[in-house]
Amino acid sequence: MPLSKIAGIGKYVPSNVFTNEDLTKFMETSDEWIVERTGIKERRYAHRTQETTTTMAVEASKIAIERAGITPQDIDFIVFATLSPDYYFPGCGVLLQRAMKMKEIGALDVRNQCSGFVYALSVADQFIKTGMYKNILVVGSEKHSFGLDFTTRGRNVSVIFGDGAGAVVLQPTTKENQGILSTHLHSDGESAEILAMYNPGTHANYWQEQQFASFNDAEIGEMFMSHNMIDDAQNFPFMDGPSVFKKAVVKFPEVIIEALQANGYQSTDINMLIPHQANLRISQFVQQKLGLNDGQVFNNIQKYGNTTAASVPIALCEAWEAGKIKEGDLVCLAAFGSGFTWASALLKW
Ligand code: ACO
Repeated sequence: MPLSKIAGIGKYVPSNVFTNEDLTKFMETSDEWIVERTGIKERRYAHRTQETTTTMAVEASKIAIERAGITPQDIDFIVFATLSPDYYFPGCGVLLQRAMKMKEIGALDVRNQCSGFVYALSVADQFIKTGMYKNILVVGSEKHSFGLDFTTRGRNVSVIFGDGAGAVVLQPTTKENQGILSTHLHSDGESAEILAMYNPGTHANYWQEQQFASFNDAEIGEMFMSHNMIDDAQNFPFMDGPSVFKKAVVKFPEVIIEALQANGYQSTDINMLIPHQANLRISQFVQQKLGLNDGQVFNNIQKYGNTTAASVPIALCEAWEAGKIKEGDLVCLAAFGSGFTWASALLKW
């Protein structure tokens, strides 16, 4: 059975740089607070009207496809991870297929938030290994800036996130010592509501009654997204930051160790760990727990913030472009996020 290899990789980040100082014009926060708690100095925001999650994905995909030495017409499947799609439905996969004038191939959207890209890569990996497809485009893209609360009320969430996209082309390889060795996927829905965007959604009867005093029978017919929900700021993401932190620092190392053990490696064998860029403090904690040195872990959250499904492919691309990943290197991708879901992929580059 052939393994899958990353044959091409690309990234796109919007040109608009938004610093911590810029955020202080909208909310009570400070560069010092943000840097100390998250490591983030600046992030990119997409153009409000001219850029979408899909247009950014197109830019990243063009580069990945070109670097793989193929054309968009050679792509035979798309797996698109995002939590900020252009439309509630249809998903971004079909919009990417249309925008890039691809054949009438399958397009699958993955909704696993921060672990979305690693989940998407795992799905694509199975299709390659069974021989069903030869060129799969795997994308993570997010336009968070359109859905954040930029008032002081939403500051614990809004300072963290940024926009961008990353993409890879996955192909079969028969080369010795190359390709995706394994992927490991996990979930625990027990705490699904502590990092979530509740609306729009179909939960309204249930969760409104349990959690929100504003529920009122007169709203029937408009509960999917009601005026009350907007007035109560329920259309923005909610995050219990300290609880996310506590779980992340346990599950990140766990799923990395799982990947290493499954393939007979130990942490000293890792050439490059690309953790989902959730928070610099989380990455530093993981690095310390695994006993890795600075050269073994790649972080770029300082420049881009947390770009959720896009963060792993953007970081992987940037590390590769900087010459930090070479042929034969043992590379580990790991992510943790809303759900909770967490995942890892171990590959020989
Ligand atoms: N600027 C200034 N003050 C703020 C801000 C802000 N942007 N946000 C919150 N505060 C205030 C709070 O109001 C609170 O004030 P109070 O003490 O007067 O009530 C104080 O800072 C402390 O708030 P906490 O939420 O307890 O702050 P904490 O030290 O936990 O840091 C943070 C918050 C950075 C979110 C932290 O909990 C964290 O890193 N959590 C992990 C979550 C994470 O990384 N999420 C990323 C997305 S999920 C993922 O990708 C896995």
